[in-house]
Amino acid sequence: MNDADTTMHDPAGWSPESWRAKPIKQVPTYPDAAKLAAMEARLHGYPPLVFAGEARRLKASLALATEGKAFILQGGDCAESFGDFTANVIRDTFRVLLQMAVVLTFGGSVPVVKLGRMAGQFAKPRSSDSETIDGVTLPSYRGDIINGPDFTAEARIPDPARMEFGYFQSAGTLNLLRAFASGGYADLHQVHRWNLDFVRRSPLAERYRDLAARIDETLQFMAACGMTSQSTPQIHETEFYTSHEALLLPYEQALTRVDSTTGDHYACSAHFLWIGDRTRQLDGAHVEFMRGVKNPIGMKVGPSMDEDDMLRLIERLDPANEAGRLTLIARMGAEQIAAKLPKLVRATKREGRNVAWLCDPMHGNTITTSGKVKTRRFDAILSEVRGFFDIHEAEGTTPSGVHVEMTGQDVTECVGGARQLSEADLGARYETFCDPRLNAEQSLELAFLIAAELKTRRAPRGTAIAAE
Ligand code: PEP
Ligand code: CO
Repeated sequence: MNDADTTMHDPAGWSPESWRAKPIKQVPTYPDAAKLAAMEARLHGYPPLVFAGEARRLKASLALATEGKAFILQGGDCAESFGDFTANVIRDTFRVLLQMAVVLTFGGSVPVVKLGRMAGQFAKPRSSDSETIDGVTLPSYRGDIINGPDFTAEARIPDPARMEFGYFQSAGTLNLLRAFASGGYADLHQVHRWNLDFVRRSPLAERYRDLAARIDETLQFMAACGMTSQSTPQIHETEFYTSHEALLLPYEQALTRVDSTTGDHYACSAHFLWIGDRTRQLDGAHVEFMRGVKNPIGMKVGPSMDEDDMLRLIERLDPANEAGRLTLIARMGAEQIAAKLPKLVRATKREGRNVAWLCDPMHGNTITTSGKVKTRRFDAILSEVRGFFDIHEAEGTTPSGVHVEMTGQDVTECVGGARQLSEADLGARYETFCDPRLNAEQSLELAFLIAAELKTRRAPRGTAIAAE
């Protein structure tokens, strides 16, 4: 069967290309339509990057998180870059995610679903179609899979050939991630080694070492009971999934396949895809595409989201009310969360919708310094996370996880944190291609704080448990 055809399992009126008849936002204008079509056809012939069975497994884990039986950690770059495609970059992000996950698992006594913003997070929505510097106006940079970041007319022309590079970079990244996840790197006995050099000198190092020592002790006890890396795969390997914003629909369609086991369509560019806050129009192209693929999917929910619109979107994207299918990623900002989120959470509870609520404390907290540098305050990020937990506690609903922009590199992009990075420090190592990310140390600090929240909030009512 042709993957572009509609199958009996597809929702009415949907096909992998039905989005093309809908109004679309944030699309690049490719100057050469024939070149674009040729590239789509080529990608369509390439192997899928992930399998439907893996996406289904992830969906089952996300369903557990919906009930509070697991916690979702989604993190990685705001935008991956073609120029920064090295084993070290991938490994360092992976190891910080592992560290965060272990802190959350141990501190919060809950399994952690690990979801990287990796191996395909290339396309970026922009608030303006153009950018002006010193009187020169050029099309905005839209991510490496579309055009180049250099401020030249040539670099900014959308080029379909970039999709192929994005595909191969995703394949290379995924290959290494799979090797790390199952080849021994993620073995819990390695927990000390995941610590990066610059974090070793940080105020958090002792805390992490203490946790790692407790894990070692636990592993020794388990070994004495007969559970070792050899006998227990859960000690030796981990499950790690990939995700990105489904923004560039020609690319996503080209990688959509019919799963031979079920006859369903799956987007095979990543396990999990999400719809951004700028492209979630009910009758728009992005919602149309996403309603028909059977992957677990996410939708960003920003401060402009209205309760009725949200319920209509949920119905469109998850008509079967299937746990694990839809994750709502709230990104309100520390100042707005208390006013905006409670009624939305209440609405999903009232309507009995099986959605997972995630907190993205990054995208509502971006500020520009007097020196015109985009940054985020660690305090604001933390305050939004706390607000998120408070709201769920007050509403009797489940906080299912967090979504962060972070890197394993020692960058200086967000201010605050244990080392009190100041605005004056931002110039030192400001490397992001898009939004400011937490560095490894700030990410670990955030994980300890969230673990403390999980520990206190999960205590049975009336029991006071000291936070970590
Ligand atoms: C992002 O996650 O990088 C992003 C652009 O988010 P949002 O759609 O929430 O603005
Ligand atoms: Co971002």
